[in-house]
Amino acid sequence: MSLKKARIAVLVSGGGTNLQALIDAQKSGIIKSGGICLVISNNPGAYALERAKNNDIKTAVVNKKECASQQEFEDKIKALISENDIDFIVLAGFMCILSESFTSCFPERIINVHPSLIPSFCGEGFYGLRVHKAALDYGVKVTGATVHYVNEIPDGGRIILQKAVYIEDGDTPEILQKRVMEQAEWKILPEACELVSKIITGDAE
Ligand code: GAR
Repeated sequence: MSLKKARIAVLVSGGGTNLQALIDAQKSGIIKSGGICLVISNNPGAYALERAKNNDIKTAVVNKKECASQQEFEDKIKALISENDIDFIVLAGFMCILSESFTSCFPERIINVHPSLIPSFCGEGFYGLRVHKAALDYGVKVTGATVHYVNEIPDGGRIILQKAVYIEDGDTPEILQKRVMEQAEWKILPEACELVSKIITGDAE
């Protein structure tokens, strides 16, 4: 059993319910091989920042709108990752696409939660409620969530965990989003964090 915990940075943009699920999982011991050391938001108004502060987790804002280029935006995030000795990065409702020059610096060290069963309803333009609207418009009967490694292809990296969720009569994108979060995202994201933390700390069976 390794003594060191993996140091996790969580990147967020909005409400941060997935961040909350990670914090709760850390408290309940579902995540025990890693610890959230830093929360970075591209949006200074993200409620996720309050959730971090309420739990004494260090926060930082890298406002994309104040950066002259994608490179400057990513360089600032990279600097924070390195200054804080971060082992791996979790994208939890992070609504910015990261370029290959960023993702290639962290192979199998970035994971993302996506609110559909990849390869359905994913890739550029599929984020947040749009994903659920697309699933309902298509008429699928089952959707879900996916946690995957992040590479240069949006939502294209190796899948770590998936969980299916049934669509019900009368679903709206908002109702479906809530069910997918409750039944899938808030469960598989913490589980995946523990899995990756174990791999990183060398405790994987
Ligand atoms: C979540 O449903 C997450 O899967 C999704 O945005 C929501 C963020 O909610 N992410 C994407 O669509 C990324 N492609 P949260 O801020 O409450 O965690």
